[in-house]
Amino acid sequence: MITFDQILPKLIEVFTACQADLTQLGEMIINRDLNGRVRLIANDTIEGNPSALAALTTLCEQMVQALGNHAFTVNQLVIFESDVRAIRHQAPSFLLADFTSIYVIDRLATEGSWATISEESTTAPRIVFFSIKGGVGRSTALAVTAWSLAEQGKKVLVLDLDLESPGLSSNLLPEERRPTFGITDWLVEDLVDNSDMIFKDMVVTSELSRNGDIYVVPAHGRDIGEYIAKLGRVWMPKIGACGKRESWSERLERLIGQLESKYLPDVILIDSRAGIDEIASACVTDLKANLVLLFALAGAQTWTGYSILFSYWHRLGVIQKIRERLQIVAAMIPDDERRIAYIEDLRDQSQITFINDVYDELTQESDTDAFNFDELDESAPHYPLEIRWNTGFSALTSLSRRLESLDENTVKLVFGNLIDNVSIIVNAAQQRKDTL
Ligand SMILES: Nc1ncnc2c1ncn2[C@@H]1O[C@H](COP(=O)(O)OP(=O)(O)OP(=O)(O)O)[C@@H](O)[C@H]1O
Ligand SMILES: [Mg+2]
Repeated sequence: MITFDQILPKLIEVFTACQADLTQLGEMIINRDLNGRVRLIANDTIEGNPSALAALTTLCEQMVQALGNHAFTVNQLVIFESDVRAIRHQAPSFLLADFTSIYVIDRLATEGSWATISEESTTAPRIVFFSIKGGVGRSTALAVTAWSLAEQGKKVLVLDLDLESPGLSSNLLPEERRPTFGITDWLVEDLVDNSDMIFKDMVVTSELSRNGDIYVVPAHGRDIGEYIAKLGRVWMPKIGACGKRESWSERLERLIGQLESKYLPDVILIDSRAGIDEIASACVTDLKANLVLLFALAGAQTWTGYSILFSYWHRLGVIQKIRERLQIVAAMIPDDERRIAYIEDLRDQSQITFINDVYDELTQESDTDAFNFDELDESAPHYPLEIRWNTGFSALTSLSRRLESLDENTVKLVFGNLIDNVSIIVNAAQQRKDTL
């Protein structure tokens, strides 16, 4: 039996065996459909060329034999199209191994594919807090960063996009200060053109901000309502009056644009869902992030997760588009004699993961522009920003209460490295804005 993971290796074998005939077949697409069944999209000129048609038939027979239930039958295997390249441009694709004219298109049931990477925001920097594992202190770090930036006089817009386990807003707001609505309500009401009503009552300022402002947009409002029923609809694309389809992450992007126009923040902090999940993919790849903070613990689970993600981006040829925005954050570093060894171990694993799929390979002739860093280069994305485990932040029932009495020295000790780095980005953006 051939399983899903054997599809691509088997196809490489088949295409290698038929390599001599490939030139006359031109560009082709291997289409892996929602059920994981493979078809071939080929140029319709082949139909009128007996020699090419014979080569294609042989190729199809071998594909069917190699892929078992993961291929259509020989008769159904090929879809002829007049413009194969145009089809390829309709969806993310990648080259099959080293073949220069054989592309793979993977149709996924989920909207968020991790495959398309948006441009960076050119207005207020957007910083996404993401992790593979949950419970690593992402929301706490975000809340403290927001607090600290506000202490510096900044206007901070905070979005709780961990819709499936909302929590960030309770860090920054006591329950009684929650607005009536949240992001989930906006996404649902937008589908029936009610979102303007929601927009007026989904943001509140945190009482913790003294010199600047923290605008909090929670995942849900004061009355959580039919949350599961709403959550099941947030992913819906919207078909506009002129028939144009807007994916749910494009709708979210529209919401962020509106929030940005109204509140004019200096920075937008986004609490993403953990794991390789649909909302997380929107936060990391679709929302014009300028910096994606990748929270990490030492241990196989973190690095297996990141390497799945990085190798996917690498294979699709989009890693160059996102790699300069990535930054590893070492979370919950033991605050005792284990600290140094823990960080070294984490940095080691981080560097290996980046070398495998993110960094350019160094060759003798590598030019100085190659995207590659020494293990100890502090500016490297693999070189972790450090957050220390601290008893004062562990198992808090109310971070908002804790933040009220926060002393700067503790914040510096635990989160200083992260906050300094974020501040540099925010200040640089502000300077750019001021010089315009
Ligand atoms: N630096 C820290 N030191 C000690 N404990 C911490 C630290 N940061 C957060 N915690 C505690 O760890 C727990 C998880 O923190 P938090 O909710 O911020 O994590 P998260 O990554 O956002 O989790 P989730 O994936 O569930 O959203 C909380 O009990 C919090 O009080
Ligand atoms: Mg959280």
